Amino acid sequence: MTPDDPRPARARRVVLGVGGGIAAYKAVSLLRLFSEDGWAVDVVPTASALRFVGAPTWAALSGNRVETDVFENVHEVPHVRLGQGADLVLVAPCTADLLAKAAHGLADDLLTNTLLTARCPVVLAPAMHTEMWQHPATVANVATLRARGVTVIEPASGRLTGKDSGPGRLPEPQDIHAAAMSVVDAAAPLTPVDTGAGPAARDAVPGAAAPSGDLHGLRVVVSAGGTREALDPVRFLGNRSSGKQGVALAETAAARGASVTLVAAHVEVPLPEQDGIEVVRVESALDLQAAMTVLADSADVVVMAAAVADFRPVDYVETKIKKSHRTAADGTEDDSAPTLQLVRNPDILAGLVRERGSRRRPLIVGFAAETGDTGHSVLELGREKVARKGCDLLVVNEVGRSVTFGQDDNTVTVLDRDGGEPVPLGPASKTVVSHGIWDVVAARGDRSWTGAGEARLPD
Ligand code: CTP
Repeated sequence: MTPDDPRPARARRVVLGVGGGIAAYKAVSLLRLFSEDGWAVDVVPTASALRFVGAPTWAALSGNRVETDVFENVHEVPHVRLGQGADLVLVAPCTADLLAKAAHGLADDLLTNTLLTARCPVVLAPAMHTEMWQHPATVANVATLRARGVTVIEPASGRLTGKDSGPGRLPEPQDIHAAAMSVVDAAAPLTPVDTGAGPAARDAVPGAAAPSGDLHGLRVVVSAGGTREALDPVRFLGNRSSGKQGVALAETAAARGASVTLVAAHVEVPLPEQDGIEVVRVESALDLQAAMTVLADSADVVVMAAAVADFRPVDYVETKIKKSHRTAADGTEDDSAPTLQLVRNPDILAGLVRERGSRRRPLIVGFAAETGDTGHSVLELGREKVARKGCDLLVVNEVGRSVTFGQDDNTVTVLDRDGGEPVPLGPASKTVVSHGIWDVVAARGDRSWTGAGEARLPD
């Protein structure tokens, strides 16, 4: 509300979805945390959640009616109203069943309908037994949701229902609240709260760096675009990279609070002008190497999304190479095509890994542009590459003339040098894929990255 605007500021609304698990009682504390912050809370439990905490408790604590079924109060069309009017949808605890339904777009009760109609940030806090969390079906569902821009919080490790323990516990309400607030803050410049419409926050191009977010405090360096290796003043060897994925990575990192340096080779999209992103222009692989070596030294995360020329001409000719030229030997006109002599460029990514030595910082992310070949799949070549280059994460990208290069959408798989399940992302916009990559980076980095506040990597 401004001094000239007599309208009261609208309270922000959170739909607090509660799944059917023993941890449902912890959602009561979450409700309190949001209410104390001035949020209006609509609690939407599933039918099985009500077996753990009853509707009267939720209604009394939230001051709002509590429904689970789309057929209650049909005249108000609650399955559409709740999702459309929310500034945040948070599901805690989120069961394996709810994760599966959300991933597949099923809508058989009020909560799952709300998940489909929401256009605001969606945060899911899973809680389940370790075996269920680690089951390939759940792993795939989580990856699908993350690729779509949904934030899935990592469960905590510890004692579970019964005698067993391991990853699968619902994190403490304060931690879930802090993580959800950082997602809301990161999305704030992207979602005009008064319309409730428009694209999903994470698919929008960020307008400004978020003052906080899960990458707040991190110094991120992203290279983007294709290098150009000059032959003469008018000609170069280049490649088909448009730089869209690298630019989207820089924009999304800034939107999540990181301070970003974008090292841009040749790109075919406008360079970002938002706060929180500094742009350094380079042309050749050697320029890029010089910039990256200096910047990596003080970075927390380095992403080599640039398409670097593996070879450059041995000689740069100062004047334009003419079609016909006089031979040095006898001065006669020579119309033959010149032969290009090439030399290997340095492998910048491998060099950054070498320079880092045994330090943990920076976390290094490479990209692998692969077309596959007769004997090897794209993923097999990616695995070989991550081992060869030694980077922490490798984003494997299938490329071809009309696959990936210049396209708005992308499909990638993120491989971790230290093993673990590959994380598939997309097909989705390069912005959404970028968010998925940052989710993997945040999970790979120090645990404090996923909470609010200053995130730093130890040396
Ligand atoms: N890269 C680099 N320096 C190079 C070539 C590539 O730093 N001279 C980086 C790219 O930015 C990318 C990763 O290495 O992060 C993989 O690039 P890619 O072109 O897929 O692999 P190459 O190393 O060039 O190997 P190959 O072309 O044989 O697949």
